[in-house]
Amino acid sequence: MADFVGAVDQGTTSTRFMIFDHGGNEVGRHQLEHEQILPKAGWVEHNPLEIWERTTAVVRTAMNSRGLSASDLAALGITNQRETSVVWNRRTGRPYYNAIVWQDTRTDQIAAALDRDGRGDVIRQKAGLPPATYFSGGKIQWILENVDGVRAAAESGEAIFGNTDTWLLWNLTGGVDGGVHVTDVTNASRTMLMNLETLDWDDELLSFFNIPRAMLPQIRPSSDPSRYGVTLPNGPLGGEVPLTADLGDQQAATVGQVCFSEGEAKNTYGTGNFMLLNTGTSLVRSKSGLLTTVCYKLGDAPAVYALEGSIAVTGSAVQWLRDQLGIISGAAQSEALAAQVEDNGGVYFVPAFSGLFAPYWRSDARGAIVGLSRYNTNAHLARATLEAICYQSRDVAVAMEQDSGVHLDVLKVDGGVTANKLCMQLQADILGVPVSRPVVAETTALGAAYAAGLATGFWKNTDELRQNWNESERWSPTWSDEQRDEGYAKWKKAVQRTLDWVD
Ligand code: G3P
Repeated sequence: MADFVGAVDQGTTSTRFMIFDHGGNEVGRHQLEHEQILPKAGWVEHNPLEIWERTTAVVRTAMNSRGLSASDLAALGITNQRETSVVWNRRTGRPYYNAIVWQDTRTDQIAAALDRDGRGDVIRQKAGLPPATYFSGGKIQWILENVDGVRAAAESGEAIFGNTDTWLLWNLTGGVDGGVHVTDVTNASRTMLMNLETLDWDDELLSFFNIPRAMLPQIRPSSDPSRYGVTLPNGPLGGEVPLTADLGDQQAATVGQVCFSEGEAKNTYGTGNFMLLNTGTSLVRSKSGLLTTVCYKLGDAPAVYALEGSIAVTGSAVQWLRDQLGIISGAAQSEALAAQVEDNGGVYFVPAFSGLFAPYWRSDARGAIVGLSRYNTNAHLARATLEAICYQSRDVAVAMEQDSGVHLDVLKVDGGVTANKLCMQLQADILGVPVSRPVVAETTALGAAYAAGLATGFWKNTDELRQNWNESERWSPTWSDEQRDEGYAKWKKAVQRTLDWVD
């Protein structure tokens, strides 16, 4: 009897493999970064072959370091950066072009055109998404229109599309020798091509982007007892392990945070922030700038939906302080620098580097630092950066309350930036509700492992998973209501400056 479940977390900056036991405890892990290819302003690409090579390396290293073999794993789950799009040749295994990353804004004209002739409203209604550069549909269209030979190959089914989940599943199950071409409902819900009600590709949506159905993967449940396939003996695990889960990373984190009931939410702090609220089996359409997305589908059970507030730039604003301004040497130093001052000294920083995502959806917005006086220092800017992470999360929390009527009593958090305790305290102060972090902060990989283990009976049900969730730290609000209201009003003024910037 296998004692563990494995999960590959293929993220925007790195790929990691993690192994968990029945209690949801980490048993082993390895992680490797991959190159961020930035050919032009606004363009962001990854090399899919490098991602596959990194995946095999992290799986092998984590397994070897614990002396484990394929027979020790009951199941394997995949979770991934969503929207990032790969098109490759199923006969040769070669990508036609680099993966176009979710942050890439080259498709702004494609997205803008959708809103000029009414197609945008059909996408909002059927796919639950506002037309934006963020999602896969426009990225696939761009590849079909700009790379020689792809369109004909796509029509014949030789050129196939996938997000990085699909790319890894295809490679793990044999690649050119019969790899499976599948995705799950959560990833498909980020393409602008899937109908949220039928959970299938929608011909009208496909026609908007002129995308042939033949190039699209089969859509499957996020946790699938009839498994997508098995890993191959000559693959990185060296044996057969059932592949039984596939979820977008933010949906996986929601599962890892055991938000299985309607009204439960989590906020993940990474390069961006992503707040998801479980809305149960009902589709809640946002009037406040949020996305409607699939949260998960466990086997034959009906799909569970979520409202999502996606924020493009949070942790990457801290990286900007390090890499572009050089005022800190590492992310951890942002906490010490910001702690040198008692408040932001009047400075507000809106890091609208990729425009603004939720709840504004303005690709033309650009960043601004406002309220400067000669008194201000690097420390005020560092503090304003941490506050920007928290104010953006308040923006989406407000929208979530408007759309759902759910008021969060506590905010469950996870992700790398939650190691920054000052930032978490500021989040509690700015939101006015307690912030709670679990013992296992790697909830993305954990959620993929949970979904994989549920499919094979390694875990019996979601109640069993709830037992594994334990709080490690909680931050309570300390600001007065006046302080909170005044700060938020200034933040909103600062946001307005970024929206006014471009004519
Ligand atoms: O939608 C983009 C999101 O899935 C990326 O997440 O953690 O890889 O930055 P992350």
